[in-house]
Amino acid sequence: MEKNSGLLKSAPIGVFDSGVGGLTVVREIMRQIPNERIIYFGDTARVPYGSKSKETVIRYSEQIVRFLQTFQVKTIVVACNTASAYALDTLEKNIEIPIIGVVKPGAKAAAEVTRNGKIGVIATEATIGSQIYTEYIKELNRDVTIYGKACPLFVPLVEEGLLQDPVTDEIARRYLAELIDIDIDTLILGCTHYPLIRSTLGRIMGEKVTLVNPAYETALELKEMLRAQELLNDEPPALGSNQYQFFVSDKAEKFVRFANSIIKYGILSAKAINMEEY
Ligand code: DGL
Repeated sequence: MEKNSGLLKSAPIGVFDSGVGGLTVVREIMRQIPNERIIYFGDTARVPYGSKSKETVIRYSEQIVRFLQTFQVKTIVVACNTASAYALDTLEKNIEIPIIGVVKPGAKAAAEVTRNGKIGVIATEATIGSQIYTEYIKELNRDVTIYGKACPLFVPLVEEGLLQDPVTDEIARRYLAELIDIDIDTLILGCTHYPLIRSTLGRIMGEKVTLVNPAYETALELKEMLRAQELLNDEPPALGSNQYQFFVSDKAEKFVRFANSIIKYGILSAKAINMEEY
């Protein structure tokens, strides 16, 4: 992906998701490449994406990309598996800056981790229906079997903040039962919201199952890509500059409360944007 003519190292990275899930990717970017500036957009007015059509997810993603480009971002991270599955190809064709999704890095990690060749993927209906994880993993290793399970109730549970709750526990048990029966040894958290209920998922799956969080791998791939294209910011941003900025399409205060509970950086504000203008 050689798309770096004239981009500035000091320019921010654009990151987006349908809601709060992409914050799990932001958290990893902050940890792994702490000099970078980030513009985050969470489409809180239109979440969930996972039950919407491909055309709709492409249209929403294109609007968000236009919004992020008003900040002269040097790259965009699609921190949403659903948008990566449905819209990444289209977005990539139409912009001049590098853009990466979360599916490929997650698929690569799972293909490397599995020992018994049985990989489970939990994700939205859209991501599972697209078969994108199966496709990427099979490109890396034809001998594994991938078992997909759509878990549509997880996103609303996470958006409501029910991260440690008996209701989440019960629903997770029902969703995961068939994957436990199949005896998978690797489980991909194929939706960026799911790492937020990782402890529940890990407890139910048991310690023999490795949970793969594509957020970690995505931040790693982002770092490598920026380095290869000489776009990695070697200087920390100037003191007092707004290193991390957050935007949403609705309910900014609720978003800030949530963000502060999972990112220890201290997010002071988020601004609500009218997406119809983009
Ligand atoms: N967090 C997103 C994903 O990774 C989308 C969830 C949703 O909006 O349904 O798929």
